[in-house]
Amino acid sequence: MYLLIPAAGSGKRMGADRNKLLLKVRSKTLIAWTLLAAEAASAISWIGIISQSHDWEDFKAILADLKLTKPVEFIPGGATRQESVYNGLQALPGNAEQVLIHDGARCLATPDLFNACAAAILHCPGLIAAIPVKDTIKVVGESGIIQSTPSREQLWAAQTPQGFDVKLLKECHADGVRQGWEVTDDAALFEKCGLEVRIVPGEETNLKVTTPQDLAIAEFILSNREQVTGD
Ligand code: CTP
Ligand code: MG
Repeated sequence: MYLLIPAAGSGKRMGADRNKLLLKVRSKTLIAWTLLAAEAASAISWIGIISQSHDWEDFKAILADLKLTKPVEFIPGGATRQESVYNGLQALPGNAEQVLIHDGARCLATPDLFNACAAAILHCPGLIAAIPVKDTIKVVGESGIIQSTPSREQLWAAQTPQGFDVKLLKECHADGVRQGWEVTDDAALFEKCGLEVRIVPGEETNLKVTTPQDLAIAEFILSNREQVTGD
């Protein structure tokens, strides 16, 4: 299974002086944790890192340290996540029928989750890992007044990996460019094109490291895992 890792952001909400994926938790960078999980997932056979050229030197040094056994390619990032994934799709080997896309910032996803998504995408055109939301979610207008409260039973928090039929996702991205759709995940493009996206049970610990608080939570989760596995 082919895996694309969007890693071309700047990490504005983290407020660091560099791409947040180069920050460390438990003495490894976020991108290193993500790559190690992909390496450990038996279903993944090829990894494309989508990143800005100014980060390549740092990423290459990290890769040299990790000594992964799987082939890794660098793909130029775009101005938005959507553009980055678009570039990634164009760079896939011609025989790629399905692809998993996993945010570099979700550095706590387990190899089991990658494998579960890789197995499921062989049987449906699109899927995402997701978990039921715990909070009550409000729809709020510009004035700061609540407009509605959607029923929680229907609300799921989207995660990655997200998996797709490559040909269909390429068509959805092309439609997105033509229509000027701006989306924050690939499932949204699939939905806008009227295609079905299935839910695969995600992981509560699979957070997207976005703010400095998330770094502290990631540190806690990883140290608990080390205690359990004795790593
Ligand atoms: N991403 C990307 N290309 C972009 C923007 C984001 O590949 N132009 C990637 C990020 O590197 C990250 C993932 O998409 O792995 C999810 O994005 P997010 O968590 O929003 O990361 P950033 O965009 O870096 O953070 P921020 O929005 O706070 O600037
Ligand atoms: Mg962003």
